[in-house]
Amino acid sequence: MKPFSCILLFLLLSIAGKTQTDKIFIETNNTALVYKIGKDKKVTQVYIGNKLSRSDYKDLNAGQEIYLTAGIDNQFEPAIRAVHNDGNPSLDLQFDHYNQRKEANITYTQIMLKDPAYPFQVTIHFKAYNNENVIKTWTEIRHQEKKPVMLTQYASSLLHFNAGQYWLTQFHGDWAREVQMAEEKLSNGIKNIESKLGTRTNFYQTQTFILSLGKPSSENDGKLIAGTLGWTGNFKYTFEVDQKNGLRVISGINPFASEYYLAPNEVFTTPEFIFTYSATGKGLASRNLHKWVRNNALLDGNAPRMTLLNNWEATHTSFNEQRLTELFAEAQQLGVDLFLLDDGWFGNKYPRNDDKAGLGDWQPDRSKLPNGIAKLVQEASVLGVKFGIWLEPEMVNPKSELYEKHPEWILKLPNRAESYGRNQLVLDLTNPSVQDFVFGIVDDMMTKNPGIAFIKWDCNRSMTNAYSTYLKDRQSHLYINYTKGFYSVMERIRKKYPHLPIMLCAGGGGRTDYKALEYFTEFWPSDNTDALERIFIQWGYSYFFPSNTISAHVTSMGKQSLKFRTDVAMMGKMGYDIRVNNFTEKELEFSKNAVKTYSDISDIIWKGDLYRLISPYDQNRAVLMYVNNSQSRAVLFNYHLNLRKKDSFSKVLLEGLAPSKNYRIREINLLPDTPSALPDNGKIFSGAYLMEVGINIAAGKLQSLTSNIIDITEINR
Ligand code: GLA
Repeated sequence: MKPFSCILLFLLLSIAGKTQTDKIFIETNNTALVYKIGKDKKVTQVYIGNKLSRSDYKDLNAGQEIYLTAGIDNQFEPAIRAVHNDGNPSLDLQFDHYNQRKEANITYTQIMLKDPAYPFQVTIHFKAYNNENVIKTWTEIRHQEKKPVMLTQYASSLLHFNAGQYWLTQFHGDWAREVQMAEEKLSNGIKNIESKLGTRTNFYQTQTFILSLGKPSSENDGKLIAGTLGWTGNFKYTFEVDQKNGLRVISGINPFASEYYLAPNEVFTTPEFIFTYSATGKGLASRNLHKWVRNNALLDGNAPRMTLLNNWEATHTSFNEQRLTELFAEAQQLGVDLFLLDDGWFGNKYPRNDDKAGLGDWQPDRSKLPNGIAKLVQEASVLGVKFGIWLEPEMVNPKSELYEKHPEWILKLPNRAESYGRNQLVLDLTNPSVQDFVFGIVDDMMTKNPGIAFIKWDCNRSMTNAYSTYLKDRQSHLYINYTKGFYSVMERIRKKYPHLPIMLCAGGGGRTDYKALEYFTEFWPSDNTDALERIFIQWGYSYFFPSNTISAHVTSMGKQSLKFRTDVAMMGKMGYDIRVNNFTEKELEFSKNAVKTYSDISDIIWKGDLYRLISPYDQNRAVLMYVNNSQSRAVLFNYHLNLRKKDSFSKVLLEGLAPSKNYRIREINLLPDTPSALPDNGKIFSGAYLMEVGINIAAGKLQSLTSNIIDITEINR
């Protein structure tokens, strides 16, 4: 070889070695996901974990395919399966090109894959959020064959792990006992977490999981990913541990009964899978996700929220204008921002006096509300209270004018008996006319009553006997198109009413996903408002959802003291649903002060970093704290559960404070004329002391169902 060529070759090799042009790097400040482009044009995942220096990836060459296809040589669960026009049920995805660009905090990567034999392409998208250490990924599928291609699997993401052993934390439940946390070791074979409910899809399983790698993780220890799918419809996660203990995690829409016929040039965009990697336990993962949600998903994620008084548990559907006006006065007395009128205000031919009739007929009930909604908004505003209203726009009672007028708008099977859930049926949101109707419910309400400041959007049943007259011979598109129909309605609502706060409710926590939060400001986690139960429910949600999304109302459910119930509501987005006029004078004074206290500390609770210090799953108490971004103030919540003789609690080590700062410890939200019993109340300690030695928050005789809120404020001395 001539000397010149030698130098050139050396240069080329060293550039290749340095820049590793055969690798694609998806990186945040701390996390890296690395792909290799093979000589065979296969793109393989060679690394996922803490970010290393570029040279460390040099020798990582063995990997697993980025988006496993079906039909050729893959014998495991595929990410995608397509049947071509000629009946060929296989796909070969080879690297075509990729591009990457940086946009402030985000690095956006697109990897284009093509089938060499069929005009079929898949683009895999990644948005890596540097500061939050979160990666969002989704795919786009398209083709130029002559007729539709049938897709039977179409994942949003496939991730590979080689940790040997894996522990999966899932959050499952049922009505009134949502998001119960359970952790198990994955054995060889497949474990699926999925929903086929169609609407209200998170009822039994939420689409959130934590996967611990190598060993179980705790709050501050262990490697893991925490992942969730931004999709309000049926979802499915497949965890497949193979014969070599490699794990594949496939996330996406549940393909159950949902073969999708993709027309030529139509783009099938999968939902986004959002995950964070933590090498130091679940606490960091939650903080990463909370920040990401507030900054990138949740509507007005960093804006203030309103406190409210709701009338559901206080009155159910029995009220009239007079009673509501009294309740406005109670809201004013309490000092909350808003009154929320719940179910039961509508229907004339079939008045909504219980859940058996009226759903779908969104006209004020003339006998209960002779002067309509406008009068209520006005009455409330006279008292300085804002007004909000409950709607359940996707549903219909068979006993309704809507049902009589538009039977074709309802999901129900031909030749089968109608199947009811809570005496109602689901409207067919795949149908554009139904979408117009649903948009119109909100638009009409807002146009007639521009003073309405809040909506609670409910969805009280899942789909059964699902069949759409509108979809004709494309019934397998129903679950997907329903969810897209829901989004298209929400898009229209948000275009016209961009900042109207809307609570997402689904008979409790049936709809709690990141995509929905783009359109909603908060969600109703459970119809179970017993404060003891709520500690577990709100604890479960706290892994993925920031506290400003978790509505928590003080109610009379449960037998705990008002102080305990209030303290539990305060760790979330506090509201009330209680008969204020039944309060004693002391209770009223306490509650008025609580509303004021909450407005003082809510910013820390909503936007601070969450540290779960002691889990109610581990001890008969729950302790958590929020620390503001500048570490100048924190709020700690301590709840004693049903205690037993054996319970004896050690000091609690705080977290997230600045070691060198000094902080004053002060118990707040005390009952009137009741001094704090905490031995450290009023004392000043360094952050280091509080985190290394800790404080005693279980002094004296321990009592069941008691609680404390502690303000930890920086003192400059
Ligand atoms: C659902 C909600 C409740 C309430 C009722 C009204 O159950 O979760 O909060 O709004 O509907 O019917």
